[in-house]
Amino acid sequence: MKLIDTHAHLYMEQFDDMPEIIQRCKDEGVERVYLPNVDTKSIDVLDQLAASDPSMFYPMMGLHPCSVTADYLDDLATIKDSLKANDYVGVGEIGIDMYWDKTLVKEQVNAYHIQIGWAKEMKLPIIIHSRDSLDMTIAGIKEYQDGTLTGIFHCFNGTVEQAQEIIDLGFYLGIGGVVTFKNAGVDKVVAQLPLESLVLETDAPYLSPVPHRGKRNESAYISIIAEKIAELKQVSMAEVAKVTYDNSIKIFHS
Ligand code: NI
Repeated sequence: MKLIDTHAHLYMEQFDDMPEIIQRCKDEGVERVYLPNVDTKSIDVLDQLAASDPSMFYPMMGLHPCSVTADYLDDLATIKDSLKANDYVGVGEIGIDMYWDKTLVKEQVNAYHIQIGWAKEMKLPIIIHSRDSLDMTIAGIKEYQDGTLTGIFHCFNGTVEQAQEIIDLGFYLGIGGVVTFKNAGVDKVVAQLPLESLVLETDAPYLSPVPHRGKRNESAYISIIAEKIAELKQVSMAEVAKVTYDNSIKIFHS
């Protein structure tokens, strides 16, 4: 069985046992891990990890909405230089976060729109963070979609109706550990969504699936998420693995 983790921050300092992490990925059939960037300080460590094993790691570049500060235009300039200078497979993660801090929402929205523009210009998929901002982030895509944009609404936790809007826009839904949480409600929504619109993600080190909830997440746990989706959709785990693998390859063209 071949699996893909479309979203993990494995370059962060809590991952100091990389050979074991990669071995556990291989044991579980996790063949590829896509690495979204966070801010200007994470660029070097992300690039180093990606270069250490190019068949396993696929780097992406962007400014995370929680890292948008008063100096965000300078940070965007740095990130754009990096995006142009290296081979990244996507723009991310980008988006709007209305959960942690709403004081710079205007700046967050502007950073989001600027980075959507880069994705169009460079023909790259985008990875969208939409915590408490799903309708706003969907509206942003509607504004720019001309048939060339695609990507993933990462850590999707909206309604079936919002999922349908995203699918109609030519985008995919990233499903992670929250699907294993009791009472989160994501499980009931995922049960009603087509596999053809889903991709798997961990968001490691965050959001570990049950039974690892509250501890460090890692990409090997993608198999737990695939198993849970198989149970919800009443299909085999092999089917979930195959369809989500193909979806990921389609999105990233690689
Ligand atoms: Ni993330």
